[in-house]
Parts: sequence; C-alpha cells; structure tokens
Amino acid sequence: MPLFTWSEAFPPKSSFTENQIPDQQGRVFIVTGGSSGCGYETAKAVYNLNGRVYIAGRSAKNAEEAIQKIKSSPAAPHSTVQRGKGSLHFLKLDLNDLGSIKASVNEFLSKESRLDVIWHNAGVMGAPDGSTTVQGFELHLGVNALGPFLLQHFLMPICLKTARHPDATLNTTRVIFVTSAGHRGSPKPDGVNWSDVNTETSTGIRASLHKYGQSKAMNVMHAHEIARRYGPQGVISLSLHPGSLKTNLQRYQSGLFKTLTSPLLYDQHYGGLTELFAGFNMEITDTNMLENGGKNGSYIQPWGRWGEGAPHVFEGLAKRKTGERLWEMCEDILKEWM
Ligand SMILES: NC(=O)c1ccc[n+]([C@@H]2O[C@H](COP(=O)([O-])OP(=O)(O)OC[C@H]3O[C@@H](n4cnc5c(N)ncnc54)[C@H](OP(=O)(O)O)[C@@H]3O)[C@@H](O)[C@H]2O)c1
Repeated sequence: MPLFTWSEAFPPKSSFTENQIPDQQGRVFIVTGGSSGCGYETAKAVYNLNGRVYIAGRSAKNAEEAIQKIKSSPAAPHSTVQRGKGSLHFLKLDLNDLGSIKASVNEFLSKESRLDVIWHNAGVMGAPDGSTTVQGFELHLGVNALGPFLLQHFLMPICLKTARHPDATLNTTRVIFVTSAGHRGSPKPDGVNWSDVNTETSTGIRASLHKYGQSKAMNVMHAHEIARRYGPQGVISLSLHPGSLKTNLQRYQSGLFKTLTSPLLYDQHYGGLTELFAGFNMEITDTNMLENGGKNGSYIQPWGRWGEGAPHVFEGLAKRKTGERLWEMCEDILKEWM
C-alpha cells in the first residue's frame, strides 16, 4: 500500500483559515514538541488568538527561543480577535523517559485547573536501528506512542473536568494526536504487531517504515479509543496527518534523500493549519463516533479536511475492537509508570 494518498501528498488549497477561529482568552492549551515544526506554528497561532499555551518539550533552551521568536513575529491578520492577551510557557516533558512524565503533569496541574486542547504533536521518524528510550523501548514506539499514551493517562481527569465546565460547549474539549500518512505502512492486519510490538528483531529500511508506521497507527487508534471512551463525557479526540513538511523531522535522513524529497515538501505553516482545524473546527456538532455517522475519532488530512485513514487500521477499530485491545496492552506495558 502507498504511504500517501494523492490528496495527502498534494493537498488542495485550504478553505480553513485562522480567521475562522474565535478568541481563545481564558482557555488553556498544551502543544507537545511546540518548539519547532508544525507544533511551533500551532503554538504561535493559539498564542495570537489569546490562548494560554504550554510548549511541552525536553529542551528549555529550544522552548525559550521559540517563545521569544513567536512573541517578536507578526500575527496573521484576524477580523475579530484583538491580539495581545495570550501567554506562552515552557513545560518540561521528555517522552523518551516514561519515569519523568508524571512529574511533568504534576508541574502543569500545579499551575492550571483546565486543559481545553492538547496536541500530542512531538515525534521522531527514521531513527537508526537499535535506538531505544531510557526504559529500553524501541524509540518510535516509546516517543511517538507510549509516552503520549502515558501523558494523556495523567491528563485525562483535567480534560474531563474541563469538558464539564459551564463555558465548555459540547465540542470544544479536544485531545488531538498528530499521526502521519505513514500509518498506512503499519503492519497488517491491525496496524500493530501484537506479538512483537517492540519490533526488536527487525532492521533495515522496510522495518523502519513499519516502526514509524506502527507508532503512528497507534496514534490513530488512541484517538479513536479516547473518543469512544470519553465522548459521552464531552471529549472530542481526533488524529491528523499534518502534510509532508520541511521540518526537523527529517533529521535522521541522508543529505541525498533530503535533496531528492525537498521539492515535495511544504512549509510547516500548513501543518499548523491542519492542527488548528483539528483543535477548533466547529463542524463537529455532537460526540458521536465516526462509525455511527459522527466525527469523533476521525482522521484529518491536510490542510484541514476530513479524511479516510488506512482501511486496515479503521476496519480493525470498527470491526475487531483493536482500539480496546491496544489500550489494554498499553496499560499493561505501562503499569509500572502509571
Ligand atoms: N514533517 C512531516 O512531513 C510530517 C509528516 C507526517 C507527520 N508528521 C508528524 O508531525 C509531528 C511534528 O513533527 P514536525 O514535522 O513538526 O517535526 P519537528 O520539527 O522535528 O518536531 C518534532 C518535535 O518533537 C519533539 N520531540 C522529539 N523527541 C521528543 C521527546 N523525547 N520528548 C519531547 N519532545 C520530543 C522535538 O523536540 P526536540 O527539538 O527536542 O527534538 C520537536 O520539537 C510529528 O509527530 C511527526 O511525526 C510530520
């Protein structure tokens, strides 16, 4: 199966713009990996919409540089929002170290009593064979999937509390997972290699695509499962492919590969737009699940359009309860750190 649909690789011009998003004053947001790439664009836009934004990442220096850059950059024009009431904060978060995630959440909870939208945006791609997290998990699995699952586990109570808040309308408390069209390359039949999720034995380019693809399929499945479990309590959860973008994500790729693929990559601003669509579009009028005719648990494609994810992953979710199975597997793997 190709890793991208035509429409994912060459998206049409977006009809969604920042101008459609109302003032976010009084609302609180987390963007993991918001120091660079599309997370940076999301953090910048939400700050300029007057939101209180936490850039969660492992480097305070990178985050502080991003914060200064955002503050000194001009905001895109907006017809109704008066700028200047947003705030930007650094939240220490290392998804590479499961043992540190609870402390990051406690730090956040010591400062805030609500969380309106979180973008699980931080990620790695194409890391060399044998790369592992502090606890020895394969790096893509650990940083892209297990870390975000654990982070969300600790944050779920504040998301649910926010969804109950009198000023939260039905569709505004959201948990967004930045996946990738690369989830199409995840293992068959379900997107997850159930018997060897840590993919310890596989090496080479094909295995690398599987490792990234599996971690990104897990993002899609986690979004769907959060929507299924917590939709009735007012939480919307979506996954999105931000587009093929020129960012630091290509850090592990060879110079030749970068040169060859560069003409096919878009500016990171468009990835931010896709993230904003997931976080703020008002086309979701209820919390009904995708397979029941609603939009909760859906997959979004660039630059902010409802899309169809990999058929094998979504068939597994709808027909084989793979979202529940993955949830239970992650809880079991992570019980030591929960
Ligand atoms: N660019 C694309 O073409 C593309 C396509 C499909 C999907 N995506 C997805 O989009 C998301 C954002 O990527 P991007 O393209 O914007 O690349 P990026 O600029 O490299 O952003 C990734 C962010 O994740 C952070 N991160 C990495 N490891 C981390 C860890 N252990 N703990 C906390 N933060 C960590 C990075 O921080 P450091 O600077 O500290 O490493 C960086 O800020 C990723 O999930 C990626 O898979 C991107």
